[in-house]
Amino acid sequence: MTVTITEEDRFEQTPYSMWLQTEKLHSIQRTLTGHPGEYSFIVNCQVMELYWSLIVRELQAAQAHLRQNDLLKAQQALRRVVDAHEPLNATWRSLSWMTPLDLLPMLGVIGTTLGRDTALQGWIYRHMVYLFGIKQKEQLEHFKPQPRRWQQLNEALSAPSLYDDVLAFLHHEKLPVPRGQFERDFAEPYKPSPEVERAWQIAYDERPEIKVLGETLADIAEEFTTWKYRHLMLTRRTLGSRNAYFGVSGIAWLTPTLEEIPFPELFSARTFIGDPPAGCPVGKAKE
Ligand code: HEM
Repeated sequence: MTVTITEEDRFEQTPYSMWLQTEKLHSIQRTLTGHPGEYSFIVNCQVMELYWSLIVRELQAAQAHLRQNDLLKAQQALRRVVDAHEPLNATWRSLSWMTPLDLLPMLGVIGTTLGRDTALQGWIYRHMVYLFGIKQKEQLEHFKPQPRRWQQLNEALSAPSLYDDVLAFLHHEKLPVPRGQFERDFAEPYKPSPEVERAWQIAYDERPEIKVLGETLADIAEEFTTWKYRHLMLTRRTLGSRNAYFGVSGIAWLTPTLEEIPFPELFSARTFIGDPPAGCPVGKAKE
C-alpha cells in the first residue's frame, strides 16, 4: 500500500521517523503486568508477527509469478522466505530466559484483563499456514470475534495454496501431475499422491531448474518445522506438562503438529529418488 504524506504527518518528525513510523512503532508495546520481562515477550511476539506478514507477502508474490510461469522470480521470492526464517527462528533465543515463574503470573493478569488468550488467535500465522497448504478449517473458529480477519482467512482457506500453484506449474512443465491434484476444493486438506511423488522424482532426475525449486520448498518446510520445534521447547521450559487452552497438556497438543510438514511429496518422494549403488546398505524402495 502506498500513502500520501500530509503536512500533519510531517509535524515534529524527521524523514526517518516518518518513513519508518518510529513514533507509532515504539508506542505499541502495552504492558499489562509490571513484570520486567513482559516488554521482551511483547517485542519478540511483535517481531514474529512482522516476519509472518513479510512471509505471507513473499508467498503471494511467488504464487503470482508461478501463475505467469516465471520460475526465476518465483524462486527469488521463495528464497527470501527461507532467509526471513533465519531471524524469525532466532527470536526464540531471546525468550529462553523464561521459566514458569515468569510466564504464569503474566498469563494470570492477561487472562483476567483481556480474557482467555491463545496464539491460535493469531491471524497472520494462520494465513501463512494456509498458504503453505496446511488447511485446517477448524482454526477459523478462533476468529469469529474478528469478522474482517475471519473473512480474510476464509478466502485464504478456499484459495489455492502455494503448493497448489507449484503443482499446477509442474503440470504446465509437462511433469505428470494429474489435474485433480491442483483443481480441487482448496478448503479441504491436501491429499498426497504417488503421481506427485513420481513427478518430483522425474524433476529431480531430469529438470535441474525444478529441482532447485523443490529444494527451496524443502528449505521452507524445514525452517517452518524448526520454528515449531523451538516453540515446543519454550513450552516445555515455561509450562512443563500443564494443561493449556484445550484442557490437555500443551506439549501433548503441540507435539503431533511437528508432523504437519508442508509440501509432503517433496519428502516422501526421496524414498524413490536416486538408485542405491551396489554395496550401499540402504534397501531399494518397494515397487
Ligand atoms: C512463552 C511460552 C509459550 C508457551 C507456553 C506456548 C504454548 C502454546 C500452546 C500450549 C499452544 C497450543 C494451543 C494452546 O493451547 O494455546 C501454542 C500454540 C501456538 N503458539 Fe505458543 N506458546 C508460547 C510462546 C509463543 C510465542 C512467543 C509465540 C509467537 C507469537 C507463539 C505462537 C504460537 C502459535 C502460532 C501457535 C499455534 C501453533 C499451531 O497451530 O501449530 N507461542 N502455544
